[in-house]
Amino acid sequence: MERLRITGGERLQGTVAIAGAKNASLPIIAASLLSPETLTITNLPALTDVATMLDVIAEHGAHVDRNGPHQVAIDGGRVDHVEASYGAIRRMRATVLVLGPLVARFGKARVSLPGGCAIGTRPVDLHLKALQTLGTTVDTDGGTIVANAPNGLTGARIVLASPSVGATETAMMAATAAKGETEIINAAQEPEVVDLATCLVAMGAEIEGAGTHRILIRGETIWRTAKHAVIPDRVETGTYAVAAAITGGQLELAGARLEHLAAPEQVLESCGVAFWPSDRGLIVSAPDPLQAMDITTEPFPGFPTDLQAQFMALMSVAEGTSTIRETVFENRFMHVPELNRLGADIKLQGTVATVKGSRELKGAPVAATDLRASVSLVLAGLAATGETVIENIFHLDRGYEALDVKLTRCGARIERLSG
Ligand code: UD1
Repeated sequence: MERLRITGGERLQGTVAIAGAKNASLPIIAASLLSPETLTITNLPALTDVATMLDVIAEHGAHVDRNGPHQVAIDGGRVDHVEASYGAIRRMRATVLVLGPLVARFGKARVSLPGGCAIGTRPVDLHLKALQTLGTTVDTDGGTIVANAPNGLTGARIVLASPSVGATETAMMAATAAKGETEIINAAQEPEVVDLATCLVAMGAEIEGAGTHRILIRGETIWRTAKHAVIPDRVETGTYAVAAAITGGQLELAGARLEHLAAPEQVLESCGVAFWPSDRGLIVSAPDPLQAMDITTEPFPGFPTDLQAQFMALMSVAEGTSTIRETVFENRFMHVPELNRLGADIKLQGTVATVKGSRELKGAPVAATDLRASVSLVLAGLAATGETVIENIFHLDRGYEALDVKLTRCGARIERLSG
């Protein structure tokens, strides 16, 4: 079991290359199952979650040709296996994204139901309702979703009860192969949904409105060979912006796109952090002192839940009292006790965390519980005096490419220990 040892107190300075977005890569890999033609994906991040998704589509019969750490060519011509095993879904919940493409292309699919997870119950009812609206019958059989549409899918008006990212992606992918037109109302507007749409259009689909609440898809796509470059990861961008701010440093985030950062940039600016464009991306520079901030997590363009834990670490060292209201996942506070072990003063009441700032964080042994929680401990460890050792860092490798290497290059003292 690998651990990270961080000796805190170094001011970070240098350039970080922002990787491709994990949350755009996963649905795009799933989308390759729709088409018998080859899809080449570039700017793929080298992450264990991406490797898991590639394994899953290979199990379905896709031919996956890894031509470099950040590029893959997927030939869907021989896909014929419509069952996704529990082994896959247990490793990563997002593998449920294969359901829409499989049922759309083959008229049937069997995919294990994802279980609960560390950040809430996370049901998939909205994915299933969207597929039902397109004409799929959905049953569950011993923990497996059994989806059938023997006569194919038919375009329809899908009204999502809430703007779920995954359900929007499932509906959009399935609709590309349905007969006629589909309208998705109350669609998620996240940049990753837009990136999936851009890729589907390159593959031959006709989609309008991605990035708004209403997406229109004309079905019966004639698929063609396509190449798509994944957008930069806005969560990684935000995480390194916090790394600069929490260490009183200055980082250039190469490849970062400010328009995808939206609310987190505004929050950071309101507490004194400066941003300006550079030739390669964006420069982030910390003020002294940082001011307190209040955050409510919301769907895009609101403040992303995937940056909540990182900002909580930052609030611990800012001047004054900050609050975080989590509205997307009810139980996404696993990092609170661990941050408190590092000297933070965070009180939790329901879904609101109150963070008393100006804390002098002190290194301690801590355990990572999920992807974003783990990185908040890394950030706190960078700001703490002394040594922080983080257990269970496999969570980090799911979503941050070469985190320790990138931080070391900017002056952090961080080591990966095995055993
Ligand atoms: C995606 C991201 C995840 C991010 C989240 C919210 C990927 C691979 N993951 O997850 O990193 O934190 O968006 O920005 O892109 N819900 C239902 N029923 C459903 C689906 C969702 O009730 O069928 C609820 C969820 O429990 C949650 C909320 O809707 O409370 C938002 O979930 P959703 O937007 O679907 O997140 P994911 O697509 O799972």
